[in-house]
Amino acid sequence: MKKNHLRIALTLVSLSAVTMLAGCGKGASAGKLVMATSADFPPYEFYENQKIVGVDAEIAEAVAKKLGRELVIEDMKFDTVVAQVASGKADFAMAGLSVDPDRLKSVDFSDPYTTATQVIIVRKDQTDILTPEDLTGKKVGVQSGTTGDLYAENIENATVERYNSGVDAVMSLKQSKIDAVMIDSEPARVFVTQNDDLQIVSEPFTEEEYAIAVKKGNTDLLGQINTAIKELKESGELNKILNKYITAE
Ligand code: ARG
Repeated sequence: MKKNHLRIALTLVSLSAVTMLAGCGKGASAGKLVMATSADFPPYEFYENQKIVGVDAEIAEAVAKKLGRELVIEDMKFDTVVAQVASGKADFAMAGLSVDPDRLKSVDFSDPYTTATQVIIVRKDQTDILTPEDLTGKKVGVQSGTTGDLYAENIENATVERYNSGVDAVMSLKQSKIDAVMIDSEPARVFVTQNDDLQIVSEPFTEEEYAIAVKKGNTDLLGQINTAIKELKESGELNKILNKYITAE
């Protein structure tokens, strides 16, 4: 777990650097505000009646409103979301996206709007996996390019199977093609609720922060987003959105 502590420490250092840069200049740019996401991640972003809804979609809507811009959500594969922002094709990314040192090389992150952890999902008939350490030598399914992917990669002798979405990994687990799925805690809860042959085994074993990513150096937009997040926190609107989609355990 040493590596994780290092990661968190690095994240904190980088975050304060980002915070210092933010807040300069306001200059509201008119028009559309394009958000890159991967709408396969309930309760943060998922489809309901052909519309992308969830915690991130609602926070983004509230932020766009404060910025006086029209929100346009673009759905894509998760492992392309950060690149889309880095290249300027989208204004920001919101995808249950964890602040991560690697990502900070190509994008800047806002102040976090919530926290998350990784957990392990197994079939209920499995009894030999109880902790991350038990994944040694196992086949672990992850969504490609996620922090779960990174952690799984560091497990000794584990084979990492990468999928386009968490649901694809979960399906594979149900068919016994893999031994476990490593994914963020809230989507895991949703998937386990929908599949009574599955269960979450591990206690949360990482700490991650979800934040909004903008193109590196876009301090103007970052400042506006941070102000909006601060206001949403202070007014209680942020908590209201979180509580609407996430029920306390
Ligand atoms: N929090 C993890 C990460 O940042 C997983 C995010 C997956 N998000 C999604 N919309 N599929 O890598």
